[in-house]
Amino acid sequence: MTHFWTTRPHPLIGLAPMDGMTDHPYRHIQKRHGNPDLIFTEFVRVERLAAGETKLLRELIYDESQRPIVAQVYGTQPEAFRRVATLLCRLGFDGIDINMGCPSSSVADNGAGAGLICTPELAAQIIAGARSGVRDWQNGATAWDVPGLSPALAELVEQNHAQLPSIYQQRRDVPVSVKTRIGYDRPQVDEWIPHLLDCAPAAISLHGRTLAQAYSGRADWSAIGQAVELAKGSGTLILGNGDVANRADALARASEYEVDGVLIGRASYGNPSVFCAADAREAEESALVAERYGRLAIAREHTILYEETLSAWPGYSFKRMHKHLGRYVRGIPGARALRRALLETDSATEAVRALDGYLAYRTHKAGETG
Ligand SMILES: Cc1cc2nc3c(=O)[nH]c(=O)nc-3n(C[C@H](O)[C@H](O)[C@H](O)COP(=O)(O)O)c2cc1C
Repeated sequence: MTHFWTTRPHPLIGLAPMDGMTDHPYRHIQKRHGNPDLIFTEFVRVERLAAGETKLLRELIYDESQRPIVAQVYGTQPEAFRRVATLLCRLGFDGIDINMGCPSSSVADNGAGAGLICTPELAAQIIAGARSGVRDWQNGATAWDVPGLSPALAELVEQNHAQLPSIYQQRRDVPVSVKTRIGYDRPQVDEWIPHLLDCAPAAISLHGRTLAQAYSGRADWSAIGQAVELAKGSGTLILGNGDVANRADALARASEYEVDGVLIGRASYGNPSVFCAADAREAEESALVAERYGRLAIAREHTILYEETLSAWPGYSFKRMHKHLGRYVRGIPGARALRRALLETDSATEAVRALDGYLAYRTHKAGETG
């Protein structure tokens, strides 16, 4: 079967999934200004989606510019994975990724996310469940055929499906992959990765920390290299993840540890250029300086898109944009005052006014001193 994991040039350098960060506007901006090779959604709980929570579709909106786009899901019930996999195929995703790495107690203590490292048999059933859902779709299922789905959710999924370009309406191969960590309370690559390889996922993205480490310490890339050795000849790709600063760093690690790809997460905050080639990044940096803090132009674009795409959804709050704005202004002169002003804003209009006011002030100052 051909799909993006194998047809795209390697090493793949992708945007890691980050709950609360990598929503539709964030992904659109990263793709437009950094062009990562692949993109994941934030994770969505399969049991809640299968129970018909239509508001979760907000996490799953994307536009065509974001392809290849992989939907990430988590949970513990193989049957829910099956149902949701059919929906995700129907929504046109290029792949389905199962989260087996989240360390948060609200996820892992219930046996989902990195909790699955302790229950490899259940992890295998979950992968099989997701694959069955893909097969159901390949064999002709629509959202209306998913057992127990609320008519409201089925209707929304089918409406979305009808708007897809025809190529993504076709019943193609939608690969199932896994994102996980190197262990639960200690590095366990030798035990855990062979269990996953037995299930033959298309790819395993491996964050080089254990659940117990959460985000502390440094990611252990030698453990990621160990997984690469185990996966040789299996047909499963290994992507490394953890503490990668930018594309040049990703390429260096790909060459040293022989991974098929690398995911970059936190380094992309407020800075999509981490995905650009080093030369392009340097050129862009100088261009940014020349055009007076062009990163703020991206912040402006992100702000407007954020409000445009999300404000109609229930529970919308502009305040969730503040954390992104704080990242965009990092390191520029007068960042603290500008950040304070941005934190007071409650709409895109107000935030754009603050950004434009800052730029006008800096231009005026430069004129005074120039
Ligand atoms: C705020 C935040 C949210 C995250 N949410 C997810 C998630 O939904 N799914 C997932 O697989 N990993 C998630 N992660 C983990 C990242 O994908 C990645 O593995 C981790 O940040 C290490 O990569 P980095 O050092 O490049 O950031 C999250 C990380 C952060 C910081």
